[in-house]
Amino acid sequence: MADRVRIYEVGPRDGLQNESAAISLETKVKFIDKLADAGLREIEATSFVSPRAIPQLADADMLLPLLSHTVDVRYPVLVPNERGMARAEAAGAKAVAVFTAATDAFTQHNIGMSIDESIAAFEPVLRGAAELGWWRRAYVSTAFGCPYTGAVEPQAAVRVALRLLDLGVDEICFGDTIGVGVPSQVAVLTGAAVAAGIKLETIAYHFHDTRGTALANVQAGLDAGIRCFDSSTGGTGGCPYAPGAAGNLATEDLVYLLDASGFEHGVDLHGVLDAARFIAATLGRPLASKVGQAGGWDPATGQPFGR
Ligand code: COA
Ligand code: ZN
Repeated sequence: MADRVRIYEVGPRDGLQNESAAISLETKVKFIDKLADAGLREIEATSFVSPRAIPQLADADMLLPLLSHTVDVRYPVLVPNERGMARAEAAGAKAVAVFTAATDAFTQHNIGMSIDESIAAFEPVLRGAAELGWWRRAYVSTAFGCPYTGAVEPQAAVRVALRLLDLGVDEICFGDTIGVGVPSQVAVLTGAAVAAGIKLETIAYHFHDTRGTALANVQAGLDAGIRCFDSSTGGTGGCPYAPGAAGNLATEDLVYLLDASGFEHGVDLHGVLDAARFIAATLGRPLASKVGQAGGWDPATGQPFGR
């Protein structure tokens, strides 16, 4: 069990939220179906936020009911407030993610609330989700650095995580929103979280490859005993309220590392590459991830595949 890693796919939500050209509902559903076909079992599908804040995901109410529930896939959705919770419930959600940050400056820009205000807003959301039996995750963004205030103390991220755990979330996801973190920070933050009483199995990491450190950070997380990582197929994405935040860690890069390192995860690299090419073509961009460009590699033949 210890060598099983959960890959939490954020492409349909984090990957697409910042795209300005409208993407059709049909294309989004097809992308998500391809991700499920590739073996991904946790796919963050969309956000029930203000359509003014994230116009690309304004179709959340229509998207969620169109997703295939024939296989056992969890489709968490982002919810910032009770209004979002009501929409998510009406659309058939069964898993929710709330999102705040380690710094007030970032939450203020992202959701117009201080950390305290965000926690107050999440309390009824998470209570409702618990009553409905939903899986609940909470993001602590800017855990490694903030675009508005700079360096972030690990204790600041841990303090916010503890308050969210008090609200009953199943998982805390520490986000390197602007891709500034390095492996030594991952080790320190994980150590600080565990020292504060947070269980390793309730911690996930969300890395961005903005400065080329995402996979190194994953390895630091693996070494520290973390077994859940976020990634975005095709490496798309970024938060509109996080200037300079380039793509998420690409799922294909993560799958390659995990496969070659002998971790089980249930995701097929061929399928991920197919989905990555599909979304890159949709966005009209070349596939920027390393494994997208080089392909996978078959140790039986020495040949690349999926290029
Ligand atoms: N779903 C749909 N509409 C919503 C909503 C929700 N969950 N929450 C608020 N709204 C609407 C309000 O009705 C209001 O609409 P109006 O201007 O037509 O009257 C408008 O959004 C503003 O609402 P208000 O309550 O004043 O909130 P705000 O302007 O302070 O915005 C958030 C707060 C949280 C709703 C908004 O900042 C947001 O959705 N942020 C999400 C950011 C995000 O997803 N970032 C990327 C993830 S890291
Ligand atoms: Zn991200």
